[in-house]
Amino acid sequence: GMGGGGKTTLVMNIHNKIRGTQHFEVVIFVTVSRDWNIKKLRNDIAKKLDLDLSKKEDETGASTLLFNDLKRKKFLLILDDLWEKVDLEKLGVPTPKENNGCKIVITTRNRGVCNDMETDEEIVREVLPEREAWELFQEKAGSAISSDLEPIARDVCKECHGLPLAIIVVGRALRKETHMVVWENALRMLQNSQFELRGMEREVYLPLKFSYDHLETDTLRNCFPYCSFF
Ligand SMILES: Nc1ncnc2c1ncn2[C@@H]1O[C@H](COP(=O)(O)OP(=O)(O)OP(=O)(O)O)[C@@H](O)[C@H]1O
Ligand SMILES: [Mg+2]
Repeated sequence: GMGGGGKTTLVMNIHNKIRGTQHFEVVIFVTVSRDWNIKKLRNDIAKKLDLDLSKKEDETGASTLLFNDLKRKKFLLILDDLWEKVDLEKLGVPTPKENNGCKIVITTRNRGVCNDMETDEEIVREVLPEREAWELFQEKAGSAISSDLEPIARDVCKECHGLPLAIIVVGRALRKETHMVVWENALRMLQNSQFELRGMEREVYLPLKFSYDHLETDTLRNCFPYCSFF
């Protein structure tokens, strides 16, 4: 699914629902992300299992230790935000078999990664349907959307193309905004950015989102869209 489409939110919800039930002995959630490496990922997984890999000097030793621990367990492993193939064997994670009840769930923006990981089942995270998008937008923009602002507000919402992250950021930036001119500026900016986004997602959108994700506080996050509007 697309960036900001709700993949992490979805698997995090699954994690929280399933943890502590009888379905699996262990449920492990780890964030992989773009700048991952296999050693760190292995350590992250081991930490969740209270397994100490630090005594193993070489990669193979660490990998075997993890493998032998997981082999005995009915596990659910959630790997969030994969950008490329993760070699499970090198990592030390047994490949789930149909009869042992183990499962691995991955999320990625790139369908090719699913192929590389030889997934059995793929689910495309669809964008929000128009009605849900509008509800989320209203929730974020606050109660200020008067009847004369509603048509333009709906247009602004449409420019977010059902992407939760876009709806939240844009909605919040316009929260309790009563001046028509501000809404008009916002709409214009979004319409222009759509044009520029095509084919430039990596270069332009991702760094923007990256910096947005790393802003410390909600206050800063709220300021960010203003910088792009004006
Ligand atoms: N169904 C939803 N309803 C409302 N808000 C949502 C929904 N799904 C996701 N969000 C919100 O949208 C934002 C982005 O979601 P999330 O981080 O899960 O996207 P993602 O697909 O993991 O993105 P990325 O590819 O960048 O990792 C979050 O603030 C999240 O709370
Ligand atoms: Mg994510």
